[in-house]
Amino acid sequence: MSKTESNVATATAPAPTAGPALEIKDSRTGTGYTVPILEKGTEGDTAIRASDLRRIKERPDEFGLMTYDPAFMNTASCKSAITFIDGDKGILRYRGYPIEQLAESASFLEVAWLLRNGELPLQSEYDDWVHQVTYHTYVHENIKTFLQGFRYDAHPMSMLCSAVAALSSFYPAAKNIQDPAERQISIVRLLAKVPTIAAFCFRHVKGLPFIYPDNELGYVENFLSMVARMSEPKYEGNPVFVKALEVLFILHADHEQNCSTSAVRAVGSSQVDPFSAIAAGIAALYGPLHGGANEQVLHMITQIGHKKNIPAFIEGVKSGKGQKLMGFGHRVYKSYDPRARIVKKLADDVFAQIGMDKDLEIALELERIALSDEYFISRKLYPNVDFYTGLIYRSMAFPTDFFTVLFAVARTAGWLAQWEEMLTDPEQKIARPRQIYTGYGERSYESQLDYGYKVAKKDAVRR
Ligand code: SDX
Repeated sequence: MSKTESNVATATAPAPTAGPALEIKDSRTGTGYTVPILEKGTEGDTAIRASDLRRIKERPDEFGLMTYDPAFMNTASCKSAITFIDGDKGILRYRGYPIEQLAESASFLEVAWLLRNGELPLQSEYDDWVHQVTYHTYVHENIKTFLQGFRYDAHPMSMLCSAVAALSSFYPAAKNIQDPAERQISIVRLLAKVPTIAAFCFRHVKGLPFIYPDNELGYVENFLSMVARMSEPKYEGNPVFVKALEVLFILHADHEQNCSTSAVRAVGSSQVDPFSAIAAGIAALYGPLHGGANEQVLHMITQIGHKKNIPAFIEGVKSGKGQKLMGFGHRVYKSYDPRARIVKKLADDVFAQIGMDKDLEIALELERIALSDEYFISRKLYPNVDFYTGLIYRSMAFPTDFFTVLFAVARTAGWLAQWEEMLTDPEQKIARPRQIYTGYGERSYESQLDYGYKVAKKDAVRR
């Protein structure tokens, strides 16, 4: 822990505050402290400023009191106006609009505009936005060569993460992140090119030729065209699938300070270019406890294999031997994830069209049993957005390891909005948490080694 601090909080207690405050008494010294409680957020979030605790010391030369919060279970890293979640009430709103309404009626690009700009676009703004994104969907031809360097069985998330990071080398001006015009074009480029790269990853793994963007198609249909078009001159998407994917992209677009968004904010706080920051988000999302869960849900359902095996599987989960009920549980939602409710209905619509799927029957039975089991009820474990999503993606013939890529395509909109909000927040600076050091105190270096090369040098001198 560094001791030299330029911004050491004043040793004396601040002037008495008019607003609400904590009165803290340090039993080690008998000293009392008044710690102001910050102004409530829109929906009543409250906090104290952690740095206000720095002046609480046992001895004057100490660094001062910190908060210890592994995995940030109870730490607000920022103030944000983008997304609001109420985990107990199962509420999710983008810029105040309920996710149910946006999923029902908005387009993904309209939501991407809303997340970033804070208001719904006017028609003229929307038309220009769609035009900009549409006419930036091509990637440099070298990206194709880059992707062809991967093995045929490379995981597409690994390919996507690498290729998005590589885009940083094609747009060196993107590092001018304080320039609004540079931020604007980078945001457009990432929203436009991530689907193209994602589709190219799909085609590479399949051993199929890359399909270029078709600027006459909408955002989602163009993505499906780059993924699925074969010899037909013009791709025509199944309207049920196009609508389902548009809704799923909207549901996955943002989710406040989740693991991958926190990664984008932390990496972006070093003022690196946005391509590198978004690549960090993709890397975090790849994890099985985060965006990789939708892939794991399908593996879990395949492992269960039949409804009759569910009770034994559930007992295995409850035994605490490490197997989790993938697609269940959430750090914030302690009730049904509102997105899962929408996805479940979407699954019904999709399977009504293509016929019931035995895996969906297993999923429905798994949910029914879990929601009535005390183990899950007591831990407030409900289906999250990932539980049914994979079944829909699989019904669209996406391979299981591509599910998280679809999550990343959608979450790019939220990552970019959060990245820009962080950069333009005057309170934010480079993220650099503290630690509680638990290692050795000072000790002297006495090597245990007898370096062979020293012996060789002595021989050389003797020779
Ligand atoms: C996403 O943060 C976000 O917003 C993420 C996301 C987004 O849009 O960005 O919503 C997307 O990542 C959704 C989550 C997808 N992940 C999964 O479905 C993986 C399975 N879920 C778990 O790994 C877990 O629920 C987490 C990671 C999602 C949340 O974990 P927490 O909040 O750290 O909770 P925990 O691991 O401390 O669990 C509390 C208890 C523990 O039991 P006990 O130690 O008390 O006995 O609940 C148990 C856990 O073992 N538990 C589960 C479980 N999830 C938690 N037990 C069985 N199956 C599960 N799925």
